[in-house]
Amino acid sequence: MNLSKRIQSVPPSTIMELLTFASKAKQQGKKVYHLNIGQPDIKTPDGFFKAIREYKGEILEYALSEGLSELIEAIKNYYKDYNLEFNNDDILITNGGSEALLFTILTICDEGDNILVPEPFYSNYFNFCKSVGVNINPITTLAENGFHLPIKEEIVSKIDSNTKAILFSNPGNPTGVVYTKAELDMIAEIAEEYNLWIIADEVYREFVYEGEYTSVGTIENIKDKVIIVDSVSKRYSACGARIGSLASKNKGFIKGILKLCQARLSVPTLEQLGAIELYKTDNSYLKEVNEEYRKRRDVLYNELIKVPGVVCKRPTGAFYIVAKLPVKNADHFTKWLLSDFDINGETVMPCPAEGFYQTEGLGVDEIRLAYILNTEDLSKAAVLLKEGLETYLALNK
Ligand SMILES: Cc1ncc(COP(=O)(O)O)c(C=O)c1O
Repeated sequence: MNLSKRIQSVPPSTIMELLTFASKAKQQGKKVYHLNIGQPDIKTPDGFFKAIREYKGEILEYALSEGLSELIEAIKNYYKDYNLEFNNDDILITNGGSEALLFTILTICDEGDNILVPEPFYSNYFNFCKSVGVNINPITTLAENGFHLPIKEEIVSKIDSNTKAILFSNPGNPTGVVYTKAELDMIAEIAEEYNLWIIADEVYREFVYEGEYTSVGTIENIKDKVIIVDSVSKRYSACGARIGSLASKNKGFIKGILKLCQARLSVPTLEQLGAIELYKTDNSYLKEVNEEYRKRRDVLYNELIKVPGVVCKRPTGAFYIVAKLPVKNADHFTKWLLSDFDINGETVMPCPAEGFYQTEGLGVDEIRLAYILNTEDLSKAAVLLKEGLETYLALNK
């Protein structure tokens, strides 16, 4: 039986091969510190589990396709703290930010259309786009510039008659970049001039460690073009809840995407009840989590830049660092760390960054590190990485 050309164009996960290397290392008795995944280790607020335990219904019914109204109300109120003004009918609940992204692409693009995305980018953007016949026109950003956006002319040069939107995560996965107000104004200007949608993936909104955070949703004049993708996964360390949302002032967009929400019937009822409680979590939780990640970033970054030749600006958001290493091939370096290196039976696993780029040849010498371990383990992992890199460089002179 044949598979669709669309699904054949989606590349297999590159991480599987590396995980085999990690498994082998563990079988040999090595401890592997994983800096390769974005699964936070922070405790999910109790309210989530309590709401589910206390559910008294006797039938677990479908929830409304739009999402539970109490959850929508909670998200609307949460947005007020960020000066994002939405009405209840501007918001839809989705199965994670992932479904919000896929449904958005399906709603605004036809096959053969394209979307501008700053690269390196969250690799599932590529998978979602490819699987529905949509292309990405990458806007390359550089480690040397802290992955900030290039000038307007460079972005505009990537626009053609099939370009429908600009999509970005802010704060950024994998780069940790937080766009300045000026950069967002530039995006808004481009969207206005070229009549593009803006898909703002803000699932890491709370993870900003320095400076101001601006949501593109606060910029006047372009509000009917903005679609905000959101999620409880990272904010409340509730990745398994699979609760995300979409918000847009564009009535036509909401009406269109609602057809997809209705076709998939609903988002899990119990997890939505839990998510309502997440949004009631005291703000001190988010402050503490932010402080914890800031410490972790500093531990990892300060160790990493001790190695001569490493190019990396201190990232200001999310919980990732992309660093350019003085190696030819970061994939080879990662495999070497897992199979040939350890200090007292311990090693570390970064994620080669090539998979976050679409442009051939970019990112080959870069890694992404997720600082999702407690500071004690992270310090050990950071030292292992530094020592590993120095040893590898000495061996490969
Ligand atoms: C930038 C970005 N957007 C969206 C998602 C998807 O999140 P969710 O768990 O809500 O589907 C992730 C998950 O890692 C992400 O990093």
